[in-house]
Amino acid sequence: MDPAQCPAPPKSGPIRDGDRQRLARCLELALNGRFGAAPNPMVGALVCDARGRQVGEGFHREAGGPHAEVEALASARSAGAEVAGGSVFVSLEPCCFHGKTPPCTAALLNAGIERVVAIHRDPNPRVAGGGFRQLQEAGVEVAWLAADDPLVSRALQANWRFLVQQIAQRPAVTLKWAMSLDGRIATSTGESQWISSPEGRSWALELRDEHDAILVGSGTALADDPRLTRRSGRRKGAILRIVLDRRLRLRPTARMLTEKGPVLVYTGPGTPGDSTRDARTATLRAAGAEVIQLEDPSPATVLRHLHGRGIQSLLIEGGAEVLGAFATNHAFDRVAVCCAARLIGGAQAPGPLGGRGFEILEQTPRLTPFSSEIRGPDMVLTSFRDRCLRDLYESVGG
Ligand SMILES: NC(=O)c1ccc[n+]([C@@H]2O[C@H](COP(=O)([O-])OP(=O)(O)OC[C@H]3O[C@@H](n4cnc5c(N)ncnc54)[C@H](OP(=O)(O)O)[C@@H]3O)[C@@H](O)[C@H]2O)c1
Repeated sequence: MDPAQCPAPPKSGPIRDGDRQRLARCLELALNGRFGAAPNPMVGALVCDARGRQVGEGFHREAGGPHAEVEALASARSAGAEVAGGSVFVSLEPCCFHGKTPPCTAALLNAGIERVVAIHRDPNPRVAGGGFRQLQEAGVEVAWLAADDPLVSRALQANWRFLVQQIAQRPAVTLKWAMSLDGRIATSTGESQWISSPEGRSWALELRDEHDAILVGSGTALADDPRLTRRSGRRKGAILRIVLDRRLRLRPTARMLTEKGPVLVYTGPGTPGDSTRDARTATLRAAGAEVIQLEDPSPATVLRHLHGRGIQSLLIEGGAEVLGAFATNHAFDRVAVCCAARLIGGAQAPGPLGGRGFEILEQTPRLTPFSSEIRGPDMVLTSFRDRCLRDLYESVGG
């Protein structure tokens, strides 16, 4: 489209006293969709009547189900409240297109809502300010927070998986490991089960519920024979389990192949004249794995391929060589570390990031300040790649 014909970006109306508090409640409601909303964003909403009294609230429970605004309007109506002339507060710009459900802008207009206040714009190209514009054009007062508002930062971090996929056109990536306080992910003899406590391990299972897919290198698949399954029952469906395995060393008897759920093996082209390769591929396929040959299972190629399959979020659980490859290629968005109350030591015991690492400090990825939580005797730490959060801010107009 000729840029001169692009509609001007909508402008926010004023934020009033009490708006932020209501938006903070919307974000709290949104987080109830932590394990169900994907691939959609987590969204929470509340409705106030024409006199400003809160009369309903709701959140987006699962993809394909009603959006938060529709849930909130329904809860107000079922309580017998009159919503016409009222306001709706919502954590994300209302959608304005027909997806699996009709547009929320239509639901708001049909309900006679006169004011809509949101935390931030939706960078999804099918919305991208269009929801705000449609409401304003219909005479609704619309306001949203300035990008430097602390609530915007919290909302962006909550929906980082959805937003990264929209912006970067690849899955959102978490690098995860468990280490001793002295930074070892295994002993010098390769023993790593279990460095973390049962409480630390249950946090790791929560991470699996937040991601669509989980990835390990062939080294970990051989050394630990992990199942890589979801076990909490919080999130429906099996997680896609991925092994990077250029030499096709994964054993057909591996536990991940005997557990229910898909297993995908990314391999490379192999060496010319290796006649056993076809046989190993056939054996792994017979054992239930999908084997895909890439030019090279490098971080960028793997992420591109997974994006093509609609994978929104990827949890990388090791080992050191694979974590190091994704880290040094800046192919990650978040780091999640369980720091166990234990000391391992030993110059030969591996740290979390193998490979060549960075040689120049200036080139190392900067991370945002840690969030930390105590789980049993362990401390769990999460942090975003600084660049990732800056991209999220830019996408919502910051
Ligand atoms: N504490 C923890 O959180 C934790 C978690 C996981 C593992 N571990 C421990 O870590 C150890 C295994 O780690 P590891 O470093 O030896 O193995 P790894 O990172 O799991 O696997 C490395 C192998 O992956 C294959 N690979 C394929 N594509 C790759 C790519 N793009 N980049 C890097 N590797 C690629 C390579 O073999 P090919 O060339 O044959 O493809 C490589 O040798 C075990 O002792 C395990 O117990 C600890």
